This record gives sequence, C-alpha cells and structure tokens, in this order.
Amino acid sequence: MNQANPSSLGTAVVTGASSGLGKVYAQRLAARGYDLLLVARREDRLEAIATELQSRYPVQVHVLAVDLAGPDGLAKASERISADTAITMLVNNAGTSSVEPVAQVSVETITNLIALNVTALTVLTKAVLANFIHRNTGTIINIGSVVGFAGFAWVPAYGGTKAYVQNFTQGLKLQLAETKIRLQYVAPAGTVSEIWDVVGVPMSSLGEGALMDTEACVDAALKGLDDGEFITAPSVHDETLLQKYVDASETLLAASQQPQPAPRYTSRS
Ligand SMILES: NC(=O)c1ccc[n+]([C@@H]2O[C@H](COP(=O)([O-])OP(=O)(O)OC[C@H]3O[C@@H](n4cnc5c(N)ncnc54)[C@H](OP(=O)(O)O)[C@@H]3O)[C@@H](O)[C@H]2O)c1
Repeated sequence: MNQANPSSLGTAVVTGASSGLGKVYAQRLAARGYDLLLVARREDRLEAIATELQSRYPVQVHVLAVDLAGPDGLAKASERISADTAITMLVNNAGTSSVEPVAQVSVETITNLIALNVTALTVLTKAVLANFIHRNTGTIINIGSVVGFAGFAWVPAYGGTKAYVQNFTQGLKLQLAETKIRLQYVAPAGTVSEIWDVVGVPMSSLGEGALMDTEACVDAALKGLDDGEFITAPSVHDETLLQKYVDASETLLAASQQPQPAPRYTSRS
C-alpha cells in the first residue's frame, strides 16, 4: 500500500529509527498516518523499515543515513530538517551509552556520547523550531532516561546527558509557553534494545523480567503524549513521585534567587 499525496498529519522525524525504541516509534507513527523521515547510520536497516512501513500503511517514508555524533552528519540532518516545511513532529530518540568507569573510559567514547545525546538533540530541536514557531504548531519528543532524575554510579556521563535533556526540554517548554508547540520529555527505565550490546552488558545478566519491552514503552509514551503529559516515565507507577520531584526542583530554583549568601555561609563558628 502506498500513496503519492503527503499525509495531512505532516512528517514525523524519528532519529535512531534503525532499532529499539526508534523503530517502534516509526511503526506507531506510520500507523497513525504520519509520513516519516527516519534517521540513523545504518542505511540498510532504515531502507528495510521504510519498505515494510510503506507496504503496510498509506504513508511516505524517507531515510537519511548520517552519523549524528559528527559535525558533517549533524549539519546535513539539520539542513535537511530545517528546509522541510512538511515536518510537524520530531522524535529525538537517537542515543548511546557507556558503562565504563569515568576514570577508564576513553575521551573519544565520552565525547561521542555527549555529541549524540546532547549536541545532536539540541541542534535538531533548533532545526525544527523556526518552522514550528512560524506555524505556531508542532510536537517535539525528547527521549531521556530515569537515570536523568538523579546521579547513578553505573552511568555518570550517560545520566548527565539525560539530565541535560530533561532540563533543556523543561526550559524550552517554558520559553515556548505562549505557543501551541507541544513538548514531551520521555524517561524510560531499562528497556529491551540493542543499547545493551552497545555498552557490552548482556541483557540476560540483568535478570528475568528486569527490562520493559520496546513496544510497551513507546505505547505508554504515546499515551502520555495523547494525554497532554510533559514528563512521561512509563515505569513509574506512583505518579505522585514525579509531581513531588517537579515541585521540589521548581521550589528550590525559586528559593535560590537571592543576592546574599545564606547565613550558614557567612556566620563564623
Ligand atoms: N534501552 C534502554 O534501556 C533505555 C533506557 C532509557 C533510555 N533509553 C534511550 O532510548 C533511546 C533509544 O535507545 P534504544 O534503547 O532504542 O537503543 P538502540 O536500539 O541501540 O537504538 C539507538 C538508535 O540510535 C541510533 N544511533 C546511535 N548512534 C548514532 C549516531 N552516531 N548517529 C545516528 N544515529 C545513531 C542507532 O542507529 P545506528 O546504529 O544505525 O546509527 C539506533 O537506531 C536512547 O536515547 C536511549 O538513551 C534507552
């Protein structure tokens, strides 16, 4: 099945669409009727997914094979995305991790991690914004992680990049508060995907039932989007915890706007 006409929903860009959560986002968004632009490095995988989705749904699927962690690939993706006025949604999903101790991990691995998880996500968000602001509509979904909520010994650098994604998305949401642009921050916990191969941790070592399925995670995240949530954490059962977390961080930020040091830093003991 295919169609020549563009979707009335517009085009959703999904980064990291060649596997894991991104592949499921691509499937679910095609099923909803979005045309797609799928981005990742493995072109053969992207082409196979595009062919399958175009055979199942009346949508157009384009692929862009680039390394988003490198300046040339990121510039190419950014130019392609900012020039495409059909784009109505961006799913910033591409990400990588490392569990090597910070003292031992190579500078190259850490630099690549930050380039993909932080720089690429920020630059691609910027790439859609001019058109979204001009049309006063659009959706940006940024994929973080529950390890962005607090420091975690296993993944200090990865967790730090996800804390950035959360803070960046939260601040941008406030900056765009007067517009109809929607932002969602998604914080999955451990999920079945190839990222475990990337970091060299066998999924079997995590124990039976430790990981969520990618389908369950993406379906929950899209339900959160449909419900108008800003932070969606599919594995957090007690939603009051999220509210307390948000309230405490906003209260702390507001209470910290003081020109004088607190008395505990000025009184002599
Ligand atoms: N799985 C989990 O437990 C978990 C938990 C919390 C959050 N997350 C987050 O979920 C997102 C998706 O991860 P996943 O678990 O689905 O892992 P995954 O299966 O390894 O998918 C990662 C995707 O990112 C793409 N990618 C990696 N490096 C890239 C680069 N330099 N340039 C362009 N694309 C690149 C990969 O495609 P190519 O290799 O073809 O480039 C792949 O499509 C990530 O942001 C991750 O941090 C995952």
